[in-house]
Amino acid sequence: MLKTEVLSAINVSDAEYKRIIEKAAETVKRGSVAALPTETVYGLFANALSGEAVRKIFDAKGRPQDNPLIVHIADFEDVYKLSDDVPIEAKLLAEKFWPGPFTMILKSNGKVAKEVSAGLSTVAIRMPDSKIALDVIRESKLPLAAPSANISGFPSPTSAEHVIDDMTGRIELIIDGGDCRFGVESTVLSLTGDVPKILRPGAVTAEDIKSVVGAVEIDESVLKPLAEDAKVSSPGMKYRHYSPKAQVIVLKGSFKEYLDYINNERKDGDFALCFDGEEDKLPINAVSYGAENDSLAQAQRLYGALRQLDDMGAKRVFARCPSKEGVGLAVCNRLFRAAGFNVVDLEKALQAGFLWQR
Ligand code: TXA
Ligand code: MG
Repeated sequence: MLKTEVLSAINVSDAEYKRIIEKAAETVKRGSVAALPTETVYGLFANALSGEAVRKIFDAKGRPQDNPLIVHIADFEDVYKLSDDVPIEAKLLAEKFWPGPFTMILKSNGKVAKEVSAGLSTVAIRMPDSKIALDVIRESKLPLAAPSANISGFPSPTSAEHVIDDMTGRIELIIDGGDCRFGVESTVLSLTGDVPKILRPGAVTAEDIKSVVGAVEIDESVLKPLAEDAKVSSPGMKYRHYSPKAQVIVLKGSFKEYLDYINNERKDGDFALCFDGEEDKLPINAVSYGAENDSLAQAQRLYGALRQLDDMGAKRVFARCPSKEGVGLAVCNRLFRAAGFNVVDLEKALQAGFLWQR
C-alpha cells in the first residue's frame, strides 16, 4: 500500500499552485505515478520513456498489458520526437483541435517505452486542454503516458473524489482540479490507414474531423460488440468497459415506452438512469444525467451518474438511450459498453408483441 497524498489546486495562491505543479513533476520524474485532472477525465500520469514507471500505471489500474496508453505532450513539436512519419493531416488536425479532447494514432519511432504501445508499431498522442496537466508536462520536460484514473473496467473518474475512491493506496499523488469539463475521454483517431478512422468517439466529432481532412470513417466497434474473431484496431475495445457494479440495460424509445417497460419489469434493486425532469414521473429511484437534447451535459455527467447508482445500491439500471448525433455518439458508445451492449429497442419489441405480455 502506498501513502496517497491529495493536493487541491482549486483557488490556491500562485505560490501554492507552483508548489503543486513542481511536486507532481517531481513525482513523475522520479518514476512514480500522479493523478491529474484533464478536460476529459482524470488520468494516471507517468514517464512515457520509462518501462518501469509505465508498469506502475498498469499495476495501479489492474489494466491488461496488451491495452496501450496515450502519450500526453504540451507542444506540437514533440510529435516529431515520437513519430518519424507525421502526415500533413496530423498537423492540420492538431492546429484545429489541440490542446483538446483529441488523440491521434501515428506510426511510432520506438522512443516510448514498449509498454506504452503494448507491442503495437503505433503510438497514440494527445495535447490535453488542462492547465494543470500542461504545466506538469512542461515542468517535467517529459512525454507522459496517461490512461483514465479508474480501476480497469469501471467508469472513468470525472472528479477528484472518484480518483480518491479508486486509487487511494495505489498511487502517490492526486491533484484535485475540480470536475472535468467534458466528462468522456478524448476522440481517438487513427492516421495510420488510407482514410482517418475514429476508434473511439469523443467531444471532437466525426463532423469536426471531416471539416479538416475531408473524409473520416468510424470503426464498426463503436456501437457494436466485437465479433469473436474480429481484428481489433484498438485493444481497448476488447474489454469490459465503463461498467458500474450494477447491471445496465439501455432502453431505446419514447419516455412513455420507457415508463411502461419499467412499470412492467421492475423489482427490488432496480434504478433508473433518466434525463433531467423525468425523475419524479418514474416509479423507482432515479438519477438523471442531463437534458434529453443536451449531449454535452450527458457526456459530462454520465460517469458520475453511474458511480452514484452504485453508491445508492442499484442492482439493475434501466437507462434512457441518448441520441447518437454529434457528441451523443460518444455518450452512446460509453453507455452501450457500460451495458455490455444490452440495448432493447422498445418500439421494435412492442411491435413484435413480446415485451409486456409475459
Ligand atoms: O481523454 C483521454 O484520452 C484520457 C485522458 C487521461 O487523457 N485518457 C484515456 O486513456 O482515456 P485510456 O487509456 O483510458 O484509453 C486509451 C484508449 C484505449 O482504448 C486504447 O486501447 C487506445 O486508446 N489506444 C492507445 N494507444 C493506441 C494505439 N497505439 N493504437 C490503437 N489504440 C490505442
Ligand atoms: Mg480508460
